[in-house]
Amino acid sequence: MLYLRLRSVFWMIVCVCNRLNDTKIRGAIAHGANCSDDVYAYCNVRKNCGRCQETIEKMLDGAAARPHLLVAAE
Ligand code: FES
Repeated sequence: MLYLRLRSVFWMIVCVCNRLNDTKIRGAIAHGANCSDDVYAYCNVRKNCGRCQETIEKMLDGAAARPHLLVAAE
């Protein structure tokens, strides 16, 4: 994973192939993504190498365990 700092905001790049950061993925989850394929579809990208899939699935599991913390992001 790659961490970037932009104007005092930290972004975690989860999918390097598609430049998907954690905010975009959380947005997809907040909008109903239930699996990594849903996340890719919501973000209009395709899985390439698949290295991000495990992290996305952990984010999905975390969101399922704490749905009250989900905030839709753009
Ligand atoms: S890192 Fe996400 S498809 Fe390669």
